Amino acid sequence: MQELIEKFRTNVIELSNTNKSFIHCEWFVKYHLEIVEKIALELCDIYTSADRDLVKLLVWLHDYGKIIDFTNQYTATRAMGRPKLLEFGFPQDLAEKAISYIETLDNKEGLASDATPIEIKIASSADGAAHLVGPFFYFYWYENSNKSIEDLMVSGREKSAKDWENKIVLPEVKKAFETRHNFLLEQMGNIPGKFFM
Ligand SMILES: [Fe+2]
Repeated sequence: MQELIEKFRTNVIELSNTNKSFIHCEWFVKYHLEIVEKIALELCDIYTSADRDLVKLLVWLHDYGKIIDFTNQYTATRAMGRPKLLEFGFPQDLAEKAISYIETLDNKEGLASDATPIEIKIASSADGAAHLVGPFFYFYWYENSNKSIEDLMVSGREKSAKDWENKIVLPEVKKAFETRHNFLLEQMGNIPGKFFM
């Protein structure tokens, strides 16, 4: 299984780095996917009951649709990701499970529920947390530089709120990333009233 996942990982990296029509082509592997993977694997060390292979597969699958077909990113994961997994030789039941887990993750509804599988909670939380690491939001501003400054501030805060409230559902992640989250909000216009005691 690890060999198959490695093959799929390599394929996603190559696609993301070479698909020039993908808006995030230049930076997505280094400054998003690899960071999601790092955070997710660390979380697997905390949540030892999680299926590590499945988590790794979810990491490399969760943005597959976005890389292949940005406009139809949510449907493209099933339409093109599923046949790709089968083509690589993943068992059909695992391919179906991974695709349905990504659909739950994309839905961003009620992920904190006890009923949500831990692998989805890990992948979703790692994805949201990765947006708080490195230059992620600078790229958002760069790629949307046609918007006004105020629009960038407002849309950035909305995007960030969705990550914080809906995607990051594990308490360890909220705790570890809270300072980053608050700093990001400051960068998006929440200027503190006081800087000294
Ligand atoms: Fe992502």
